[in-house]
Amino acid sequence: MFLRQWIVAASLLGASFALSEGDDVAKRTTANEILSDFENAVTCGSCELLNVQSIDRISAIKALLGILQGLAHLGNDAFVDVITDVCVLAGVEDKDVCEGAISLEGPILAHDLRNMDIPSTNAVLFCSTVFGLCDYPDVTQYTIDFPSAKPSNASRPSSSGQTPLQIVHISDIHVDLSYEVGANYNCTKNICCRPYTDADAPGNTSYPAGEYGNSNCDSPLSLEESMYKAIDQFVPDASFTIFTGDVVEGAVWLVNETEVTNDLNDAYNKRMPSYLNKVYGVVGNHDAAPVNSFPTAAIDTTLSSQWVYDTLSSAWSKWIGSTAATSADNYGAYSVKHPGSNLRIISFNTNFYYRENFWLYEKTMETDPNGQLRWLVTELSAAEAAGERVWLLGHMPMGSGDTLHDGSNYFNQIIQRYDTTIAGAFYGHTHKDEFELSYSNYTAKSADTANMMSYIAPALTPTSGNPTFRVYSVDPVTFGVLDFTVYITNMSTPGYQKNPVWDKYYSAKETYGSLLEPAVTDDAAELTPAFWHNVTALFENEDSVFQDYIARKTRGWEVESCSGDCKTEEICQLRAGESQYNCVTVSPGMNFKKRDIGSTAKHQEHACGRSTMTGIFADIEKSVSALKSSMKKRNLGQGFLDRSLNSTPA
Ligand SMILES: *[C@@H]1O[C@H](CO)[C@@H](O)[C@H](O)[C@H]1NC(C)=O
Ligand SMILES: *[C@@H]1O[C@H](CO)[C@@H](O)[C@H](O)[C@H]1NC(C)=O
Ligand SMILES: *[C@@H]1O[C@H](CO)[C@@H](O)[C@H](O)[C@H]1NC(C)=O
Ligand SMILES: *[C@@H]1O[C@H](CO)[C@@H](O)[C@H](O)[C@H]1NC(C)=O
Ligand SMILES: *[C@@H]1O[C@H](CO)[C@@H](O)[C@H](O)[C@H]1NC(C)=O
Ligand SMILES: *[C@@H]1O[C@H](CO)[C@@H](O)[C@H](O)[C@H]1NC(C)=O
Ligand SMILES: *[C@@H]1O[C@H](CO)[C@@H](O)[C@H](O)[C@H]1NC(C)=O
Repeated sequence: MFLRQWIVAASLLGASFALSEGDDVAKRTTANEILSDFENAVTCGSCELLNVQSIDRISAIKALLGILQGLAHLGNDAFVDVITDVCVLAGVEDKDVCEGAISLEGPILAHDLRNMDIPSTNAVLFCSTVFGLCDYPDVTQYTIDFPSAKPSNASRPSSSGQTPLQIVHISDIHVDLSYEVGANYNCTKNICCRPYTDADAPGNTSYPAGEYGNSNCDSPLSLEESMYKAIDQFVPDASFTIFTGDVVEGAVWLVNETEVTNDLNDAYNKRMPSYLNKVYGVVGNHDAAPVNSFPTAAIDTTLSSQWVYDTLSSAWSKWIGSTAATSADNYGAYSVKHPGSNLRIISFNTNFYYRENFWLYEKTMETDPNGQLRWLVTELSAAEAAGERVWLLGHMPMGSGDTLHDGSNYFNQIIQRYDTTIAGAFYGHTHKDEFELSYSNYTAKSADTANMMSYIAPALTPTSGNPTFRVYSVDPVTFGVLDFTVYITNMSTPGYQKNPVWDKYYSAKETYGSLLEPAVTDDAAELTPAFWHNVTALFENEDSVFQDYIARKTRGWEVESCSGDCKTEEICQLRAGESQYNCVTVSPGMNFKKRDIGSTAKHQEHACGRSTMTGIFADIEKSVSALKSSMKKRNLGQGFLDRSLNSTPA
C-alpha cells in the first residue's frame, strides 16, 4: 500500500514542473474527463507507472484545483461538507476528527481557493502543500531595504572569559489539561490518554495511561510541573528561561478559543510563574484555534487571532514590561532589553512564514506579512547602533522544511546583514534535538562562511522522544553560547510512572569539543557557527559520531539508523538556515519528506503540527474518487465538472 502510493507519487512528480504560466494546454477537454484519467491511471495495477506518465499531470492538477475552487465558490458549508466526506471516505482520519478539523480549517482553504488565480505561483505553492504534487516554486526575488550598509569592520566579539550565565531553554510543552490517568493510551487518534469514547475511559481499557505521560499522548500537567521542579533543582541560579512556543495540545479537531485561552493562561500565568523567575515566550503554531490560523493584517476576514495576542501580551507583561507587551499585542512579536545586561531579546512570530498557515496563500503572497521583517530591521539596526547583543527567538526554525522559501530568503538577508549583532537564534517546533547553520555563501559552505547558529531545542511532550529541557552556559558580555547541557527523564525506566527522575543527558562541548581538530575544550570558548560547521564535517567523516547525534535527536527513543540519502539529507538540513537549501523534497502525504528517521508518520505529523487538511489528498486515487462521489451524492458541481478546462470558475 505504502509502496504503491509512493510509486504513483514518484511518477506523478516526475521531473520538476511548474503549475504556472506557460504550462501545457490540456489534452482532455473537461475537468471530469481529466479526473477520470487520474483515477483510471492510478487504479491500473502493475501498469500504473506507464499510465500515470501518459496523462497530463499539470492538467489533472489544474482540474483538481479548478473543481475545489468551484466548490469554494458555492460557499464554506458546501466546501466543508464535501471535503469532510473525502476525509471520511478516503479513511484519512476518524470521522469525528475529519468533521472537527475540516469545519475549523476548511473555511480558510476555501478563502484561498476563491481568491486564487490558476495558474499562478500561489497555485503551485498550494498544490505543493495540500496535494504534495508540485515542487516548490523558485523564490520570488525581493531585496530587503536596510538603513545602513554592514560596517566593514563588523565582527563577532570574542569571549570575555567572565563567569558564564545559565539560561534555560524549554519548548513545545503541549500540555493536555484533559489528560486522564487510566484512559486508553492506544487509541486511533494523534493524541490519546483521553476518554474519547466509553471504551477509552479509565477502567474500560486494557491500555491505561500512567500518571506521567505516554509517547502516544501530549504532556499531563504532572509532567510539566515535574520539569519545572527539575529546572529548579539543576539550575537554581538560572538568569532566565526562554520558551520557544506551543503550549497547546494536539487534538486539533477539538481546540477552540476557550480551550486555547485557558491553556495559555494555565501555563503562563499559573505553572511557569510558580517555578521560573523570568520567561521570554514565543507564539507557537498550536497556540491558536483553528490550529496554525494566523491571518495577516492585510487579509479581509472575520476570523481573527487577535485574542491570542491579547492573551499572550497580558500574560507576558509581568516578564517583558508594558511597552514590549503593547508590541506583542500587535501580532505576538516584541523586542526588550534584558534588565541589567547588554542583551536584547527579540521574539518574532514565525507563523507568518509557516506553510500550514493557510492564510498566507493569498492571491499574491505578501512579501512582508504585518511588516514584521521591516520591524526586525528597525530593531536590529537600533541594537547595532547601541552596541547591544541580540538573541532572536522564534517557534519554527527558519530553515526548516515547514518554512516557505520566500519568507526564509528575505529573513536570511536580515541575518546576513546583522550576523555580528545577533549572538544566536533559538527555536523549537521540530520536537527534536538539533540545530541549523546559516552561511554567507550557500554555494561555498565552510567553517569560514558559517555565520549564524540556530539552536533548536527538543520538546517536553513525549510524542517524539523522552521529555527534555536544555541549559545554555552563556558569556555575560557577548551572550555567545559557550556550551549547552540537555536534561531528560527516561520514560522507559521502571519507576517512571511513580517518580520521573531527571538527569543530565549530554553537553555539546563535552561531546564534540575534544573530537574536533583543533580541540575546543576551553570553558570560555564560544560554540561558534564555525564550531558547529566543523561538527557537521565530523558527522560526515566519523559515522559513529553521526549515529550518536541521531540517537540524541529523540533522546534515545525509537532510534533508527540513518545512512545513505538519509544521512546526506540530514546534514544538508543542518547546513540550511535558509529553507530553499535544506534538500527537503515534496511528496504526497508526507508533503515535505521528513527524513527516514523518527518513528511513525503519526508522530511526525504531530511534531510539526500538520493539519488534517494536508493529509486529505495524500492518496490521490482514493481522494479523487471520494470527491466525485461526494459531489454526486450532494448533487453539487456538475456544472464545473463538465466545464471546459480553459474557462475559469465564477
Ligand atoms: C568599527 O569602526 C567604527 C568607526 O571607526 C568604530 O566606531 C567601531 O567601534 C568599530 N567597530 C568594531 C567592532 O571594531
Ligand atoms: C494497541 O492495540 C492494538 C489492537 O487494538 C494492538 O494490536 C496493539 O498491540 C496495541 N499496541 C500497544 C502498544 O499495546
Ligand atoms: C465503561 O463502559 C461502559 C459500557 O460501555 C459505560 O457504561 C461506562 O460509563 C464506561 N465507564 C466510564 C468510566 O466511562
Ligand atoms: C470548547 O472546547 C471545550 C473542550 O473541548 C468544550 O467543552 C467547549 O464546549 C467548547 N466551547 C465552545 C464555545 O465551543
Ligand atoms: C560564493 O561561492 C562561490 C563558490 O566558491 C563563488 O563562485 C561565489 O563568487 C561566491 N559568492 C559570493 C557572493 O562571494
Ligand atoms: C574548523 O575546522 C578548520 C579546519 O577545517 C579549522 O581551521 C578551524 O580552526 C576549525 N574551527 C573551529 C571553531 O573548530
Ligand atoms: C532509558 O531506559 C531504558 C530502560 O532502562 C534503557 O534501555 C535506555 O537506554 C534508557 N535511555 C537513555 C537515553 O538513557
